[in-house]
Amino acid sequence: MPIEPHGGTLINRIVEGEEKQRLEKKAGGLERVKLNSRELSDLEMIATGALSPLEGFMARQDYLNVVDLMRLANGLPWSIPITLSIDGKNAERLKEGTDVALIDGQDELLAVLHLEEKFVFDKENEAKQVLRTSDENHPGVHYLKSIGAVLLGGKISLLRRPVYEDFGNYRLDPQETRYLFKHRGWKRVVAFQTRNPIHRAHEYIQKCALETVDALLIHPLLGDTKKDDIPGPVRMACYEVLLEKYYPKTRCVLSIFPAAMRYAGPREAIFHALARKNYGCTHFIVGRDHAGVGNYYGTYDAHYIFDEFDPEEIGITPLFFDHTFYCRTCEGMASSKTCPHDSQHHVFLSGTKVREMLQKGEVPPMEFTRPEVAEILIKQMKEAD
Ligand code: ADX
Repeated sequence: MPIEPHGGTLINRIVEGEEKQRLEKKAGGLERVKLNSRELSDLEMIATGALSPLEGFMARQDYLNVVDLMRLANGLPWSIPITLSIDGKNAERLKEGTDVALIDGQDELLAVLHLEEKFVFDKENEAKQVLRTSDENHPGVHYLKSIGAVLLGGKISLLRRPVYEDFGNYRLDPQETRYLFKHRGWKRVVAFQTRNPIHRAHEYIQKCALETVDALLIHPLLGDTKKDDIPGPVRMACYEVLLEKYYPKTRCVLSIFPAAMRYAGPREAIFHALARKNYGCTHFIVGRDHAGVGNYYGTYDAHYIFDEFDPEEIGITPLFFDHTFYCRTCEGMASSKTCPHDSQHHVFLSGTKVREMLQKGEVPPMEFTRPEVAEILIKQMKEAD
């Protein structure tokens, strides 16, 4: 039996056929709301079931429960608010109990929101509870400050998928990954979330995990990330070259996770795990400072947060990894758990140091990053100059 989606049913809010025609016709006369990039990602993920059991943007009770208790109103674990915002003035023209047309940046109709509730929300409280800070330097707090004061909650009906010009082959919906795993006979699949190029530490924890299960889903996040993260297309080039040269094709799949990054550390680790359960994965890698940014979270806070839930209600099994590195004395990759030597024996490079090296066209040590990946990053930096 494949792993159950969160809440038991894989949601599908994509409407087709007559219902689609009916809503499209109706949409012409509806009030319109333009979605930002994060909301577009969320819309698509709700529609495809990646955020099951959500069927729309959160109404008040789900929102409040998630922010304060990490649970939906029905008690299911859920750690990140999935919301649609609008400014107070524009909210006035929308009536609860009516339909609203959701449009993209080019004014194209994407979906209909069956507006259940509109409500003012407490940004400060959300920041403190979900992001564990109200510091505006945190990208998630910055986002919260930038959006409207009112949230629109209700189920959605998706009429048109957002159009992507790139990586079509890598955009598998939960239904498709589930089919793929079944077709290949994989019962135990571990997912790897990433927003960075894959360095040796990432490769090591992926392969350690793969030793214990049937297959690995490399599932890079390609929704919005902060400006100084490496752009998605560059990362995809890195993933492709690594997979080609160093990963067994019979057991590894690369596919895109279309979510936007929240940088919510521990809370986001739970969210990332639950979403991967919806994609049909049975295991999920959580390493050091998962989904972290700056020094807002403790190195292993994203491990500890799983203790706040009963493993059965999370369903997907987290695989925790300590900080990993290459140890010259062990002559291999290791972690603070498996290596007895102090940091002088380790190949450690800070993010800033790596960036400096790449900018100068220097290839970091191969114990840190594969040369093929370094080459792509150096090229990108030259082009960006
Ligand atoms: S994240 O925002 O997606 O978490 P990143 O792509 O850097 O960022 O990390 C992907 C996964 O690898 C996360 O689970 C993270 O905790 C883990 N990770 C990254 N670097 C290391 C490391 N050196 N040792 C152990 N785990 C790591």
